[in-house]
Formats: sequence, structure tokens, C-alpha cells
Amino acid sequence: MPMAASGGTYRWHRTRRSLRATAGAARCSDQHLPVPQSLMSCFTDFDAILQTASVGDSATRPIYLDAQSTTPVDPRVLDAMLPFLTNQYGNPHSKTHAYGWESEAAVETARAHIGALIGADAKEMILTSGATESNNMSLKGVARFYGAKKKHVITTQTEHKCVLDSARKLQEEGFEVTYLPVQSNGLISMQELEAALRPDTCVVSIMAVNNEIGVIQPLAEIGALLKTKGAQLAKSAGLSGKPLFHTDAAQAVGKIELDVDKMGIDLMSLSSHKIYGPKGVGACYVRRRPRVRMEPLINGGGQERGLRSGTLAPHLVVGFGEAARLAKVEMKYDHAHISYLADRLKTRLLGAIDHVLINGDEASHYPGCTNLSFQYVEGESLLMALKDICLSSGSACTSASLEPSYVLRALGLDDENAHSSLRFGIGRFTTQEEVDYVAEKIIKVVERLREMSPLYEMVQEGIDLKTIQWSG
Ligand SMILES: Cc1ncc(COP(=O)(O)O)c(C=O)c1O
Repeated sequence: MPMAASGGTYRWHRTRRSLRATAGAARCSDQHLPVPQSLMSCFTDFDAILQTASVGDSATRPIYLDAQSTTPVDPRVLDAMLPFLTNQYGNPHSKTHAYGWESEAAVETARAHIGALIGADAKEMILTSGATESNNMSLKGVARFYGAKKKHVITTQTEHKCVLDSARKLQEEGFEVTYLPVQSNGLISMQELEAALRPDTCVVSIMAVNNEIGVIQPLAEIGALLKTKGAQLAKSAGLSGKPLFHTDAAQAVGKIELDVDKMGIDLMSLSSHKIYGPKGVGACYVRRRPRVRMEPLINGGGQERGLRSGTLAPHLVVGFGEAARLAKVEMKYDHAHISYLADRLKTRLLGAIDHVLINGDEASHYPGCTNLSFQYVEGESLLMALKDICLSSGSACTSASLEPSYVLRALGLDDENAHSSLRFGIGRFTTQEEVDYVAEKIIKVVERLREMSPLYEMVQEGIDLKTIQWSG
């Protein structure tokens, strides 16, 4: 593990958690960076929070339980990336010299690791800037290519914003979009999907793991339905092909087993920074046999099979490749570790606090994303009282607004229960000590906030809140 240079003033800051990842690495003590005088005024409250929060003996930063928002770069990933930020700076598209060749070779190795994680051939992986871009290109690119004859798109009400906004854009262009509702457990109904299919459905986009509630959609069943019923419908109208199946797997890749062939998936969006890789890179799986066609969103030098022009960033791609390789090798270990911690957290919280709702199906569920509503407590007030714990009261992308989460609303939660929810994102580097600290802190804070809640007092007195006529 290299120490970053520059006259010994900067040391790589490693916590006890990141150390776990590098076997045999020498332990170095936590050390703060010296802050130049000129920058002192930039540091506000954030700095104070980051400095003072502590758990156990060595941590100096808040506890991070927001693994759906992003994950830290695994030190082994950083090790793999560094040569491509220093000596090995060739453009992977330069064909005439060794600098280009070595970058190209590294990119292709990474591409193979990324493909292997989902049972795909390296040639089917189009490198992008992340899942947002992959989702945009899958929906818009495919719909625009097949749009002359097929004008219908199906997606769900609980997709990530970038899928929903791409679908809205297609509506403006004249496409018809069905936004499938979900059941109260967050799963789609296969009957409703079947009923929504039309002869002119060009693409069905259904996410693999939901980023707010961790629910896993039945991908293999969806893939099979599109191959049978979807193909029959198209054929009956004299149209070729079946509806293409796209899945946003940003929260699923590297966490649950995925196989594009077994699941009948034609397009898949992947993101590096959700699996301990760097931010700003991702991929789109695009099936070659039978070939999926799409209109590129970015035109230029014809890189990435002409579907995504632009010079690749080898350091990011290599980091993503290493993160994918590690995720494949360690998936079982990670899953067991994360399941254990999620169970421990949930058991402690549900055992000590009454009136807690578990949001999302408990069986078809990725344990690293646990969403609970602490009834009669405002999620935002809870977050304010938990300054030394970083978690989210909804999707990271919408938590800036005080609107209740549209995902929780789609499950049928009322505004109050949606507002009282917290998402616990547990990852590879989360420790038992952290989870225990979080549980005890939440128990205390919920108790304190409920002491101030007239609603909770009324519930304790046996009053059914639904029977109350509120004035004003
Ligand atoms: C389900 C889902 N899709 C897409 C994205 C966007 O991914 P990226 O940050 O790689 O653009 C996210 C990130 O929050 C996500 O959770």
C-alpha cells in the first residue's frame, strides 16, 4: 500500500476498516492532514463533525452506513489504479506505440473482469461514466432505434430517477410509457407486467435491487415472460423480436448472483462506485447474440463498438475491473458478513423499539440495504440527532428535498411513515462495533424524541390515530 508522496506532509489515512482489506499490510496510525492557513476559512461545521465523532478507540470520522449512496475505494483497487495515474499514462486508443498498447491491455483485462461478474463476454461490456449514463443509453438508445415500429416502454414506479427521467424524455418524443405499480412489499406483480405487455413494447426496464428498500425483483421470471409472451405478442402483430429486457443493476452487481443468459437480460447498467471502485465509471451490458441495436447518445471517434465515443480513462476502468474481480471472488464472504451485521442491527432495534415498520419484502431482499420506519418520529429529526452516523432518510439523490420518498409512497406508506424512515446501508468495511454503536444510539434517540411526541403518547394511551378528526 503506497503512501502518497509530497514531502511527507500527506499520509494515506487508513482506518481500522480499510486495513482489514489488505492482508499483511503494516498498520499506520490515523493522522490528520495539515490544513494550509489559506484554507482554514473553508472549514465549517463539517470539519468539526468529522473531527469529533468517534466510536471505539481509533475512528476519527463519523460511522458510514450509506453504502447505497457510495462505497469507499478498496485499498487493493487503489493499488491497481495508481500506475495508470503515473507512469502508464498511454491513451488506450493509441495503436502505434507501447504506451497505448499497455493501457489497452489493462482496459481489456478489466473489461473481462467486469463481464465475468454477470456471465457476459468482455465484448458485450460498453464502458460508460456510470449507471446514470448506462440507464440513459439503454432506454433512449434502444427506444430511438426501434421507435419507428415499436413505441411502447414499460418500467416501474420505484426505479431510480435517471430511469424515470429517461422515460419521461421518451414520452416527450412520442413514446407511450407504462409505469408499473409495485405491491406493498415493493415487488412487481408478474400478472400486471404480463397485462401491460403490448405487441409494440420495445423495452422493459425493471431494476434488479432497489436502492432505497433493497428489494430484489424476479429477474429470471421477467426474462422468461418476455421471451414467451412478449415474443408471441410481437409476432401476432407481424413485428420481429421480443421486448428487450433492461435492468438497472447498480445496486445488485457484485452483491447478488447475476447471469445475463440465465436471466434473459439484454441490457444491464453497472456502476463502479457501488462496489468499492472509483466514481465516474460504469458499464452497460449490451447483448451481442441476438444483437441488441441502439442509437448512441454520444458520437465521435467510434470507441466502444461505436456506442459510446470518447477516450476511456484507464485508471478508472482498471479500478472498476479490480473492484469487479474482488467482488466476484469475495461475494460469498461479503454477503455473509453483511447479512450477519444487518440481522444483528435489526434484531437489536426491533427488540428494543416498538412501532417499527420494515419496508420492503423480507425474503426477496438484499440485506445490506435495510429500510425501517420509526413511527411517530421524524426521520429528519432522527438524522439531526445522529450527527456522528452517516445514513440516509431516503434515496441519496432525493434527500435534499423534504418530499416523502416516492419509492416508499409507491409501497403504500403514508407521508408520516415515509418521513419516519431510515435506510441502513451496510458494506464490506462495516464492523460489528459500528453496528452496535448505531443500534444503541438510535434506541436512545428514538426514546428521547418519542418522549416529546404527543402522537406517540396518544398511541400509548390506546387512542387510534385514524379516528381523530384533526382541525385546521
Ligand atoms: C439504482 C441506481 N441506479 C443508478 C444510479 C446512478 O449510478 P451512478 O452514480 O453510477 O450514475 C444509482 C446511484 O445512486 C442507483 O442506486
